[in-house]
Formats: sequence, C-alpha cells, structure tokens
Amino acid sequence: MSEIERPSNRSYRLRGDRATGAQEQAYATLWPAYGLDPRSRIDAREIFPDSQIRILEIGSGMGEATAQIAAHFPETGFLVVEVHKPGVGSLMHLSEKAGLTNIKIIEEDVHVILRDCIPDQSLDAIHLYFPDPWPKNYHQKRRIVQDSFLELIHPKINDGGYIHIATDWFPYAGWIQRIFAASDLFTGGVIDRPEWRPISKFEGQGIRKGHIVTDMKYFKK
Ligand SMILES: C[S@@+](CC[C@H](N)C(=O)[O-])C[C@H]1O[C@@H](n2cnc3c(N)ncnc32)[C@H](O)[C@@H]1O
Repeated sequence: MSEIERPSNRSYRLRGDRATGAQEQAYATLWPAYGLDPRSRIDAREIFPDSQIRILEIGSGMGEATAQIAAHFPETGFLVVEVHKPGVGSLMHLSEKAGLTNIKIIEEDVHVILRDCIPDQSLDAIHLYFPDPWPKNYHQKRRIVQDSFLELIHPKINDGGYIHIATDWFPYAGWIQRIFAASDLFTGGVIDRPEWRPISKFEGQGIRKGHIVTDMKYFKK
C-alpha cells in the first residue's frame, strides 16, 4: 500500500505509542466498533445517516471531554481525529464504557483526513479544543490554525456551519482571532463558554496555572 503523504510541519508533539493495558486492549478489541480506516472515504452523512448534526472533532487527547460531549448529544454524530494512538485507545475505552453509538475515531493527522477523505459540505461543525499552543515564536508555524487551515476546512463545512475553538493560551487566542478576522471565509469571534463543554484534563491543568480560557465560534460565510 502506498505511503500516506503527511505535512512536514507537524501541529502535534511526537509522544510515542506507550499505552496502558486498558488503552491497548480497547484499541485491539474495539477498533471494529469505533475505528475508521484513514485511507477510506469518510462521509459523515453515510456514517451517521440518522443524526441531525455531524461534527468533526480535531485532537481529542485522552478523550474524556469528547466522550462526555458525545453522551450529552446522542442525536449528533461525532467523527474524531486524533494522531496519538494511546489517546485513540482511551477514547475507544470510554466510548464503550458509556455505550456510545454516535462516535467514530480515526488515527491520523487531520490535515490528511481533510485533504483525502472528507467530502465537501459533509460536516455541520468542527470542534477544536485546546490545540497545542506552540508558545515559542519559532514554533508558531506549527500552530494548527493558519490561513491554509481555514482554506482546508471551509469547503468541508455546510452552509450555516461553524468551527468552535477553545484555548487556554491567551496569545494563541489573539492569533486565532487575527487569522479569522483577516479571512473572507468565516465570520464570528469570542463567545461565552458553553455550559455543556466539560473541563478536560488538559484544560484543568491550564486553569490551575492561572490561564484564561477563550471560546471562539466562526461561521462559514
Ligand atoms: C493539547 S491536546 C488537547 C486534547 C483535548 N482536546 C483536551 O482538551 O484535552 C491537543 C491534541 O491534539 C492532537 N493533535 C494535534 N495536531 C493534530 C493533527 N494535525 N491531527 C490530529 N490530532 C492532532 C494532539 O495529539 C493532542 O492529543
């Protein structure tokens, strides 16, 4: 099978594949129920034919918040893309524990999935919660929110659809607002934190360090 071509500029940290027994077991046994092949066409309308809304979540981490959100919105279908294998195993484990049937998980760089697998106008929304902040100036090109990212996601979202982003890194919130403000593709800005968005482990760590959390929502123009 041919190699998947990935962007050279990674928006994630390479963390190794060491997983707990439960994560590994979940990955091995639950892949048929929850996993999707990153080389296949991934059309949320076909995967979740009965769902009212279909959402792509980018970067679920260990998946605690993702599983809670999916349980809170059983009528919504969630496609989740996470590049870190133990995180994928963890979310599969949590999904099974909660008996979720409205979630599918893809282990890959989301740039590849958006480029190769997801048809245009097949998503109602995108969730991007606590993307790696890349605080050092010389790393900012690794931030996932870039002009090119807006161009990549725009055609995938239905008319009236949106992207919801949250970050606990205040300078990154400013960066995100400047990129969206300069773009003709989306309109929106800062919103109140929705009461249904649970605090993930990652977010909790930021809050304990005194970080300010910003939620932003941008609608497709
Ligand atoms: C800082 S963590 C936050 C995780 C989670 N959303 C939370 O709130 O706890 C960011 C996650 O995004 C994932 N990630 C970063 N870039 C990605 C990409 N291009 N494709 C898929 N996942 C990515 C990382 O592996 C990491 O698990």
